[in-house]
Amino acid sequence: MAKEVCEFQKKNYLKNNNRPKFHFSSPVGWINDPNGFSEYKGEYHLFYQYHPYSLNWGPMNWGHSKTKDFIIWEVMDPVLVPTEKYEKFGCFSGTAIQDGEKHILMYTGVEKENETSELQTQCVAIGDGTEYKKLKENPVITANMLPNGSSEVDFRDPKIWKDGDLYYSLVANRSSDGSGQLPLFCSKDLKSWEFLHIVDKSENKIGEMWECPDIFRLDGKGVILLSPQEMEATEEGIHAGSNTIYLLGELDEGYNFKREYENVIDYGLDFYAPQSLTTSDGRQVMIGWLQSWDNHILHKDCNWSGIMSIPRELSIKNNRLYQLPIKEIENHYKNTYSHNGVLCGENIELPNMKGRYLDLTVEAEVDDNSYFDIILASDDKHYSKINYNGIIKKLETDRTYCGIKNDFISTRKINIEPIENKIKLRILLDRYSVEVFANDGEKVLSMLISTNEEAKGLKFNFNQDTKVEIICNKL
Ligand code: FRU
Repeated sequence: MAKEVCEFQKKNYLKNNNRPKFHFSSPVGWINDPNGFSEYKGEYHLFYQYHPYSLNWGPMNWGHSKTKDFIIWEVMDPVLVPTEKYEKFGCFSGTAIQDGEKHILMYTGVEKENETSELQTQCVAIGDGTEYKKLKENPVITANMLPNGSSEVDFRDPKIWKDGDLYYSLVANRSSDGSGQLPLFCSKDLKSWEFLHIVDKSENKIGEMWECPDIFRLDGKGVILLSPQEMEATEEGIHAGSNTIYLLGELDEGYNFKREYENVIDYGLDFYAPQSLTTSDGRQVMIGWLQSWDNHILHKDCNWSGIMSIPRELSIKNNRLYQLPIKEIENHYKNTYSHNGVLCGENIELPNMKGRYLDLTVEAEVDDNSYFDIILASDDKHYSKINYNGIIKKLETDRTYCGIKNDFISTRKINIEPIENKIKLRILLDRYSVEVFANDGEKVLSMLISTNEEAKGLKFNFNQDTKVEIICNKL
């Protein structure tokens, strides 16, 4: 079976088939969550939920790719294929670590007899960067180890790490009140695990089930990343449905967590299930799936489905999580064009500034009457827009006219405060995706667009004289 999926991928992978240039995209068929994002022997490995046989979700394999610079990816043979009884329905999400010479993967095995009987358990596979072998002791963590009342069905997405001689695993689970909780387990040998305590829980306040937890220390804080399902929209920027949320707090040596603050990771339309790694040069780098479960946008030219976000460097400033595109992107700039001066008017085009593969920075001096638009990927009929409105101090992304043909949600609007009278936006446009980093990474919005590649226009509208610096890097 493992051989089958490798052969299928080799036969069907089309290298330059209408792909983004600097984002990882599915080799063939469907991908969702990033899995096992880790540094191993000097290279960064990315696994992912993978169903190469169609453009839709199906029984999950773990696909595999690796990179030296987070931008250029080498596609490898898939590594986990559901062969055993405990994972018959799929090898679901998980994480990975380097442990000496070994690359250790921890994932969820899903067994499903019928619609009403499903069991999720945690499993381990060990490999060398190319081939991975499942432990014969699998599954190594089962639901009977959970506190009373915890769900056996929603028990998945283990985050593994090692501290001293001990392995730890933080798993997403549903508690007796029906909402998310994070049980922590510990092991000396990866085979026999014991339940320690619940690290944090939703209590129905931060959505219902929590998926894909990550946990790390950064800039003196404990950080937990989560993907909660079934949230209600709030005016502060949580949208209805599945969101991405970070928790900040104090994390002690025994991994007891005292939460102090929580907020949204990415306010956009398409971002989910992020996880991170620590590089050997000390950076915490996060990657997410650039898609939403509810609105599945796919351009008609794609015979593959699924893009990952740009890997993002994380930091904590003023007790908030900041994100910026991985710095290695700068090595891939081909040309740089800039403008520095006052602009006013509609549909302003600047010399050489257009295209579908851009890393664009716009820094505008604003006041309470400022109103400006950045119009991307435009032709006569199509465009996507990023708008700042100084009267209400909001930033909006809008893909209404990008060419989608379903009645999908197309806009997101967030509060944004100018800093020293400036709004600074860094925008990555890579064929079918737009990621907006506002105020040096204080808030981020990501969305997919479905616009023909020929729509390369980049235009600006300014309602009043506005001093603006624009740097347009082409990739
Ligand atoms: C999140 C998720 C995970 C699960 C995986 C299945 O997007 O639902 O909880 O492991 O996708 O593909």
